[in-house]
Amino acid sequence: MPGLFDTYEVRGVTLPNRVVLAPMAQWSAEADGRAKRWHRGHYGTRAVGGPGLVMMEGANVDPTARGGLDNLGIWEDAQIAPLAEIVDFCHEQDVKMGIQDAPADAAEAAPADSVEDALADSAEAAPADSAKAASADAVEDAGSGLDVDPNSQS
Ligand SMILES: Cc1cc2nc3c(=O)[nH]c(=O)nc-3n(C[C@H](O)[C@H](O)[C@H](O)COP(=O)(O)O)c2cc1C
Repeated sequence: MPGLFDTYEVRGVTLPNRVVLAPMAQWSAEADGRAKRWHRGHYGTRAVGGPGLVMMEGANVDPTARGGLDNLGIWEDAQIAPLAEIVDFCHEQDVKMGIQDAPADAAEAAPADSVEDALADSAEAAPADSAKAASADAVEDAGSGLDVDPNSQS
């Protein structure tokens, strides 16, 4: 039987162990949705603990349908660099990083079982592209709970 600290492969991504941090909203983003110093400290500290995967909190994909002005956003390019900084640091700790995209209406989110599907679906293409640009290892669609590998797209 595999142990907690054995590797785990899921959809083309090999997690160094089976400890996963669940996505947990921090309600600490800039008003324009960019991650800020809090997120660097928060996720960086979790990564230093050595989980296999950190799934970052739900990031709004639609600026007109945010749960709150301090919710993380992933609808425009300016939001990529602060996320990439977090992802890069966590990668340096040998932790895989996921980003959860939070559609305006999670109940209507289209399930995606590959990044190709996610990129082909207009509702998911932008966050999947942004996650890829931020070098994330996985995207979780908050509506479907399925993970895809944004880097499997050439
Ligand atoms: C403060 C807080 C914020 C959360 N934010 C999110 C979120 O952004 N996205 C999400 O899918 N779940 C969110 N959750 C739910 C957690 O990811 C997790 O599913 C929940 O705490 C149950 O965990 P368990 O299944 O290990 O008991 C949040 C939970 C907490 C306590």
